[in-house]
Amino acid sequence: MCGIIAFTGSLDVIPILLEGLRRLEYRGYDSAGVATVDETGIHLRKRSGRITELARALDDEPLTGVCGISHTRWATHGPATEWNAHPHLDEAADFAVVHNGVIENHLQLRQQLEDDGVVFRSDTDTEVLTHLVAKLWSGNLVEAVTRATELVRGTYGVAVICRHEPGTIVGARLGSPLVIGIGPAGHSIASDPGALANHAEKIVYLADRQICQITPEGWTVWTRDAVTVDCRMHDLRQVVDTIDDDLNGFPHHMLKEIYEQPEALTNAMRGRLDEADATAHFGGLNLDPRQLRGVERIIMTACGTSYHAGLVGEYLFEELARIPVEVEYASELRYRNPPVDRNTITLAITQSGETADTLAALRESKRMGHTTLAICNVVGSSIAREADGGVYLHAGTEVGVASTKAFTSQVCVLAMLAVYFGRTRHLSALQGARLIDELQALPDAVREALRCHDVVKQVAQRHAHARNILYLGRQYLYPVALEGALKLKEISYIHAEGYPAAEMKHGPIALVDEETPSVFLVPRGQVFDKVMSNMQEIKARRGPVIAIASPADREVARVADDVIPIPDVPEWLQPIVAAIPLQLLAYEISLLRGCDVDKPRNLAKSVTVE
Ligand code: M6R
Repeated sequence: MCGIIAFTGSLDVIPILLEGLRRLEYRGYDSAGVATVDETGIHLRKRSGRITELARALDDEPLTGVCGISHTRWATHGPATEWNAHPHLDEAADFAVVHNGVIENHLQLRQQLEDDGVVFRSDTDTEVLTHLVAKLWSGNLVEAVTRATELVRGTYGVAVICRHEPGTIVGARLGSPLVIGIGPAGHSIASDPGALANHAEKIVYLADRQICQITPEGWTVWTRDAVTVDCRMHDLRQVVDTIDDDLNGFPHHMLKEIYEQPEALTNAMRGRLDEADATAHFGGLNLDPRQLRGVERIIMTACGTSYHAGLVGEYLFEELARIPVEVEYASELRYRNPPVDRNTITLAITQSGETADTLAALRESKRMGHTTLAICNVVGSSIAREADGGVYLHAGTEVGVASTKAFTSQVCVLAMLAVYFGRTRHLSALQGARLIDELQALPDAVREALRCHDVVKQVAQRHAHARNILYLGRQYLYPVALEGALKLKEISYIHAEGYPAAEMKHGPIALVDEETPSVFLVPRGQVFDKVMSNMQEIKARRGPVIAIASPADREVARVADDVIPIPDVPEWLQPIVAAIPLQLLAYEISLLRGCDVDKPRNLAKSVTVE
């Protein structure tokens, strides 16, 4: 989603800003812009489309300077045009603002400003902030930004420059992440530590309602009441330990990340499996044994792919830990008021740790006094810092917008957590030992599952033209059906639906015809025969069937038109192995349809607005 990078120091600012923007590119955006400031005023370049367009504009009409702000915009208020791209200027071009988040009362503020004679030049909510800062400035930029942010309702991460104070950048945060970068040649502000990788060594996280000022010489953070905050510095390399934008020979990040899954799973389990005690261990859960045993219910909350991981978690916890679980879309949970008893914990699941709805749901649970935990990939992200405890995935940076290795790592962490909770309850040492053995064999099983890639390519050729594809599975594999459909929708723009296989006959079966393929998840397990019957129902209506099944399964091969083989693993781990061919299928179909695999239209990697 929107990205901010701003720098002031002794280096030429444009290459730093462009490099920072490129590092944020994977998050998704549709326009980009920069503004520099010096004694002569503010200088602006903006373009709709990719950063390469902006770079071209800067080649044609170069900007120089040592202080500037920049932004990638993911359109919310107004289309992705040059006039709506950030930075936004006030009427006199004395101030420039870049903004992430949404200003909810922008219409009222706009009306008031227009009544005062201000002429707006964009459709954005951000522009009100620019005019407010200009209106409230009386010689001190920090004060003007503080007062302006007090007037807005909603969320913001902003960086502001002013021609009267060249060399100074002011930042402010409420609900939208912002960090300060500290480096040998200057200081920076960014929405994501990853953007600072080429020039900062230390970082400082801003908390909500904090304001900061950076100059070439130093940085300061205040509360809204102008009290100086004593902030903790973090080593950037420790926080962003896996800045990795090298494709390592893969054509796309998504494919690279699909192939990284055996290693990601190994990393998720590293140091957490305890053979001696036949359980798993987690360093950061911050639950003492009494609290752990006292947990009577878990609410898992997440969005998108992470929500699907939570659905798998529901099956895992019920079976292995015998703890009732509810999985809620974070966007729904945040506005619900469910009766929740004392011994319920909330578990947020998120790759980025910045998803606005998940963060809000976590905060609401915290406000109600519940213990909150998070499963998260991005170290130091808002959710990782705000949860009472949690588990990192250690999957490495996930750049592809379509989440792949984060999903399988999330399910793996949930499986380990279910074993851990189960071992404090009814799971015997022998049962625990067997489960640990099975987990240890998982990376190799995923390695083997990846060998289906050639078969997937052939299947993709046959179905890349489809207009609708159904994904069907039962029990542990029902959430994987949902995930397979989401992957396909996201990157190929084919309409796809996931269903519990038996639910088909209650309506969706009306969609089935010769043109509508169904992907069946049908490895051997307790419901194998039931899923086979559901498959026959589709075949009887001439629907093409693609089966994800054991390579040796003749029964499946007799019914299905195509079989994509996956290795046999215990049922509780099938979601991880069965996800692999579905990721590859979405990838191959997307390629065949000429779509932009890593940057699908309309999507953002990290959804930081509500
Ligand atoms: O960073 P999060 O896991 O909180 O993100 C949640 C969803 O936005 C995300 O999973 C989204 O659905 C992905 N694009 C799926 O591939």
